[in-house]
Amino acid sequence: MSLKTRIENKQAQIGIIGLGYVGLPLAIEFAKAGFPVIGIDIDESKVARINAGENYIPDIADDTLQTLVNSGNLRATTDMDIISDLDAVAICVPTPLSKVGDPDISYIITAIDIINKRIHKDLLIILESTTYPGTTKEIVFSRLEKSGLTVGKDYYLCFSPERIDPGNKKYTIANTPKVIGGVTVACTQLGALLYEQIVDEVVTVSSPEAAEMVKLLENTYRSINIGLVNEVAIMCEKLGVDVWEVIDAAATKPYGFMKFTPGPGLGGHCIPIDPQYLSWKMRTLDYNPRFIDLAAEINSAMPAFVKDTVADALNVHGKTLNGSSILILGAAYKKDIDDVRESPALDVLILLETAGAIVNFFDPYIANIVIDNKTKTGLTELKTESLQTYDAVVILTDHSNVDYELVRKQAVLIIDTRNVYPLNHDEKIIRLGVGKNIERLSE
Ligand SMILES: NC(=O)c1ccc[n+]([C@@H]2O[C@H](COP(=O)([O-])OP(=O)(O)OC[C@H]3O[C@@H](n4cnc5c(N)ncnc54)[C@H](O)[C@@H]3O)[C@@H](O)[C@H]2O)c1
Repeated sequence: MSLKTRIENKQAQIGIIGLGYVGLPLAIEFAKAGFPVIGIDIDESKVARINAGENYIPDIADDTLQTLVNSGNLRATTDMDIISDLDAVAICVPTPLSKVGDPDISYIITAIDIINKRIHKDLLIILESTTYPGTTKEIVFSRLEKSGLTVGKDYYLCFSPERIDPGNKKYTIANTPKVIGGVTVACTQLGALLYEQIVDEVVTVSSPEAAEMVKLLENTYRSINIGLVNEVAIMCEKLGVDVWEVIDAAATKPYGFMKFTPGPGLGGHCIPIDPQYLSWKMRTLDYNPRFIDLAAEINSAMPAFVKDTVADALNVHGKTLNGSSILILGAAYKKDIDDVRESPALDVLILLETAGAIVNFFDPYIANIVIDNKTKTGLTELKTESLQTYDAVVILTDHSNVDYELVRKQAVLIIDTRNVYPLNHDEKIIRLGVGKNIERLSE
């Protein structure tokens, strides 16, 4: 039976390498569609949890995973030799930055070398990890070529960026169009056919480089627009204008404007990192991508801006940051998720502690955070008495399941970086990007 027929009949054996925020939901989607799916990870605990039907990704319903594991459609392994039995394999390994801020594609290289030892006729390989334009052809293809098999004939290679938005209830893998570009036309066609089994719309582009660049455009666009609204927030403070009111009113324009909101800075595995992949690649081509660098400069300065706002607010209350006790509300990088990677909350926490504040945190999704190899344990619940003991409460992530009315009633001073209290006139609440906060307090 041809690979095409096996895909159409949902008999193709699918492997997913890397069972994190991207890989596990993808594995679930293929298993739900009826494919036999094998998740492959080097993390033994993740593999054991999946095989026990235990979910660890908030966006996945616990019973969905359990049902798929019980039915035999989904299982996980650390045994890389399973790749010899696969028809298609998607690579969803991390792509962080190195210590000096350059792309670290070592996880991709490791995964490719693992595949290369087990590559066989009719294997469809799809790279999903975000990376710089050229990776699929220059790094992945050039390594696989050494197998002696011919791409587009013996095996198939594509790049298809993952667009998952953790915590987003409206847009899931199924109803978010999937972009794919193969090394040859036959690669693109087979890759598109595979994803058509699980997503409503597949968008094909002419090359892996175009597909790689699509992802970087999307995330660079977000980084730059967040940088813009963060700077607008700073400008509004100086102008004595409420940035949140301005953004909401601007967003009533039915065309030509898309709403972005300011905050304490960028976080997550994608928006702070992906533009740096593009920036690095462009520097190798002697081109300086100015927008990317400017947005990074503004966004990375936001935690310090928040720290200064806290210090100014305490000052009005006759207190210094040094010695004050502060509760941070929300450590995750965005609402309703449990991910602290690159979270600006960690930067704000470090800045406050460095200035001498005694800082604690509460996040309904996160029990502990690790900073400089030291574990910090947060509050397990928000209590009236404990809220009253802090000199300031700083809201950094606006999780939906927090009792903000209790916080408003009990806290002595609140610094709200997420507009939890819109159009607020309560003197003890200082909102980010709202002019004359401090002046009004001191009047
Ligand atoms: N998290 C997101 O929201 C998101 C969205 C779109 C794209 N992406 C991109 O997807 C990729 C994966 O991100 P993630 O958030 O899922 O990462 P993650 O850290 O949550 O998961 C990666 C997994 O890969 C495993 N792994 C590492 N090396 C391996 C190897 N050699 N063999 C098998 N498994 C291995 C790790 O153990 C881990 O479980 C990254 O390139 C990221 O930029 C992430």
